[in-house]
Amino acid sequence: MEIRDAVVEDVKQMSTFLKELTASGKRTSPDDESFVRAYYIEDSGKIRCSVAVDEGVILGFQSLKLAEPDNKWGVEPGWGIIGTHIRPSAARRGVGRALFEESRLAAENAGIGNIDASIAATNPEALAYYEAMGFRTYRTPDGLICKRFAVAKQSS
Ligand SMILES: CC(C)(COP(=O)(O)OP(=O)(O)OC[C@H]1O[C@@H](n2cnc3c(N)ncnc32)[C@H](O)[C@@H]1OP(=O)(O)O)[C@@H](O)C(=O)NCCC(=O)NCCS
Repeated sequence: MEIRDAVVEDVKQMSTFLKELTASGKRTSPDDESFVRAYYIEDSGKIRCSVAVDEGVILGFQSLKLAEPDNKWGVEPGWGIIGTHIRPSAARRGVGRALFEESRLAAENAGIGNIDASIAATNPEALAYYEAMGFRTYRTPDGLICKRFAVAKQSS
């Protein structure tokens, strides 16, 4: 499995398995190719968007963006905002763990002190995943559990 930056040519596959996540009730945000391209690949606030690839098949991706002032998630400006999306057939095989190593390094290199993961309170797999990566709950707005990862603390 190779971890590399996501590129425009990856959009089709990314959208395909996001649609699988939508169909299984694990995603509510848009999943079409134009959204994936604009939101994950070309967004001006992107710090890193990494894909995990095995023999040309994208197994998952992780997006790390900078929280802008007044962002709609209520995340402290200057923090990172993370999202993880694994192809259902590749779940629980260490893909998310490998992607986070890359995102953590990207955050460190970008001088980001904290990363927010805002997770649906009804998503036990994602809550367990982020907890395992070292994220801890710091606020619980309606229907969400927001976990924080302290980048500097972990890397020192
Ligand atoms: C949640 C998700 C990101 C986890 O990614 P993954 O590649 O399957 O996770 P990994 O295999 O790297 O697991 C790393 C650790 O996270 C925890 N974990 C991951 N999936 C888990 C699950 N289903 N149940 C319990 N713990 C889990 C475990 O501690 C695991 O370590 P272990 O396998 O050595 O016990 C992935 O399943 C996914 O994309 N789910 C659907 C989309 C989603 O909910 N995204 C998050 C939105 S905020």
